[in-house]
Amino acid sequence: MQVKVIDHPLVQHKLSLIRDVKTGPKEFRELLEEIAMLMAYELTRDMPLTDTTVETPVAMCKCKMLSGKKLGVVPILRAGLGMVGGFLKLIPAAKVGHMGVYRDPNTLKPVEYYCKLPTDITERDFIVIDPMLATGGSSAATIEVLKQKGAKHIKLMCLVAAPEGVQLINEQHPDVEVYVASVDERLNDHGYIIPGLGDAGDRIFGTK
Ligand code: PRP
Ligand code: URA
Repeated sequence: MQVKVIDHPLVQHKLSLIRDVKTGPKEFRELLEEIAMLMAYELTRDMPLTDTTVETPVAMCKCKMLSGKKLGVVPILRAGLGMVGGFLKLIPAAKVGHMGVYRDPNTLKPVEYYCKLPTDITERDFIVIDPMLATGGSSAATIEVLKQKGAKHIKLMCLVAAPEGVQLINEQHPDVEVYVASVDERLNDHGYIIPGLGDAGDRIFGTK
């Protein structure tokens, strides 16, 4: 399995809180945003830098600035929306695309219903975000759409994954690096991650 597990103590601590069935929507949203920000910090470690000079109040200073391609972030609706705010706190210049995908509850196959992406796709690197990587169908379909429209460099950032989901992304999109906070045990018969955290969209938005 090709997957990077972000084992930073803050991420792991907050993940334990977010899994707790007693955590309500307000706290769930806050934790998800905080974790997304911490994960984004790790995901962007390889961003290229260029030399620059800055005038401080007392002297000229040789500094570094980000260079290279700009970023696009693509949350998968709905639950991916819960991670956008944290991401944008670190990288406010990123453009945000949206992919609407839901799982058919009977077949567990992804159904696409909305797509709005930046127009300058070929000039950006992309990070697809969704808290849950279960069968992997929703993320794989989103990555496929991005590739068809010209995206070349894509990373996938999820909170909790099932081994099945990681495997699907590895098989269908071997070029895509997968970052998660945890790879859990397995999927149950309804395609839910065990132990997981339940239905992420429902817990963020308080719906059933
Ligand atoms: C959840 C989750 C992922 C998907 C993961 O969304 O947010 O998008 O399931 O499952 P998969 O890896 O098997 O495709 P859901 O379909 O429940 O839609 P929602 O966010 O609108 O509730
Ligand atoms: N989607 C969720 O929100 N949770 C799961 O465990 C699986 C799919």
